Amino acid sequence: MSNRKILITGGAGFIGSHVVRLLVNKYPGYQIVNLDALTYAGNLENLRDIEASINYCFVKGDITDEVFINELFAKEQFDAVIHLAAESHVDRSIMDPLAFVKTNVIGTAVLLNAARKSWQDKSNKLFYHVSTDEVYGSLGETGLFTEETSYDPRSPYSASKASSDHFVKAYFHTYDLPVVISNCSNNYGSHHFPEKLIPLMINNIINNKPLPVYGKGDNVRDWLWVEDHARAIDVIFHKGRLGETYNIGGFNEWKNIDIVMLLCRLMDQKLGRPEGESAKLITYVKDRAGHDKRYAIDATKLNQELGWEPSLQFEEGLSKTIDWYLSNQDWVKNITSGAYQQYYHNQYNAR
Ligand code: NAD
Ligand code: TYD
Repeated sequence: MSNRKILITGGAGFIGSHVVRLLVNKYPGYQIVNLDALTYAGNLENLRDIEASINYCFVKGDITDEVFINELFAKEQFDAVIHLAAESHVDRSIMDPLAFVKTNVIGTAVLLNAARKSWQDKSNKLFYHVSTDEVYGSLGETGLFTEETSYDPRSPYSASKASSDHFVKAYFHTYDLPVVISNCSNNYGSHHFPEKLIPLMINNIINNKPLPVYGKGDNVRDWLWVEDHARAIDVIFHKGRLGETYNIGGFNEWKNIDIVMLLCRLMDQKLGRPEGESAKLITYVKDRAGHDKRYAIDATKLNQELGWEPSLQFEEGLSKTIDWYLSNQDWVKNITSGAYQQYYHNQYNAR
C-alpha cells in the first residue's frame, strides 16, 4: 500500500511533529493530513521544513467536534489514523481535569466512531492509538511495566489516557475496528514545550532562573529520544499485529535530580560557566499531588517481534537537545512570551 492517505492527529505537537516529519520524508507516496487544534502545545513552526511537501497538508480542527470530524472522514476517505492529539501534561491535568476528559476521552471516542462509520470495508485500514506508560500506574523500587501489567492510572492525565486506551480496545472487540496501541515512556528532544521537566530545566538554566525540583527529586522516569519514538511508531504502524499493544522504551531510568544535575553540568560547559554554577539554581519545591514514584518500561516485545531498538545514548541525546534549544531561542521566546507566563506563575510562584 504505497498510496495510503493517513490522518495524523496532534501533528503540530512535540511528538506528532516528529512523526509527521518522518513519514512525509520517508514515504513520498503517502498523503499525510495533519489535523491539529493548535492549542498552546501545537505549533506550526515545528513543521516549517516540511510544510511545502506535496504529500503533506494541514487542517486546523478539534477532535472533539463530532460534526466536523465526521465530515472530514467522509470527505477524505482516510486509509489509516495515527492518533496523537491529546492534553499531555500531568500538572495541567491536576489544575483542570475536565479538559483532559474532553480531549483525551471524548476526542478519542469521536475519532474511533468516525473511523468505524467510514470504514465499511476494513481491509488495509488501521487506527493507531499513541499512548503512555503512565496508564500502568506507579512502580516501587523494582519491576518493569510489560504489556500484561494491569492498568492503574493515578493522575487525571493517566486516567484519561487509560480510558482512551480502553475505548480503542472496546472498538476492536465490539466492531472489529483494526487497531493497534503503543504505550511509551517519557520522551525528550527538540520542539518540546517547556512545561515538561527537561525543556523547562534547559530554559531556566539558560535564563538563570530557579530549577524547581518536586519533592526530594528521587522520582524515577524512563527517558526515550523522541526520534526513536517516532521510528517505533513507524515500525508498529507498518508491522504491528492488529489488536496488540506494544510498549516502547529505552531501558533508561533516571532519578529527576540526577537528570537536573547532568543538565547543569552539560550546560555549564556549553555556556562557558564555571563548573557547579548552574547547579546553584536547583530549588526543591512542594511535591506534585499524587506524584507517581517510578516508571520503567520493558520493551522486549517490540524489540523481539518487530526488531526496533533505540538509537541514541541518553547523554548524547541530552547534549543534542540542549544544542537545539540554544540554537532556537526565537522558537522558545515565541511560545514562552504569552500565556506561558501566567501558567508558570500559577504553577510555580506559590510553591
Ligand atoms: P503535546 O502536548 O506536545 O501535543 C499535543 C498536540 O495535540 C498539540 O499539537 C495540540 O495542539 C493537539 N491537540 C490538543 N487538543 C486537541 C484537540 N482537541 N483537537 C486537535 N488537536 C489537539 O503532546 P506530546 O507530548 O507530543 O504527546 C503526543 C501524544 O503522545 C499524546 O497522546 C501523549 O499522551 C502521548 N505520549 C506522550 C509522551 C511524552 O513524553 N510527551 C510519552 C508517551 C506518550
Ligand atoms: P514531566 O516532564 O511533567 O513528565 P511526567 O510527569 O509525565 O512523567 O515530569 C517528569 C518528572 O519531573 C516527574 O517526576 C515530575 C518532575 N518535575 C519536577 O521535578 N519539576 C518540574 O518543574 C516538572 C515539570 C517536573
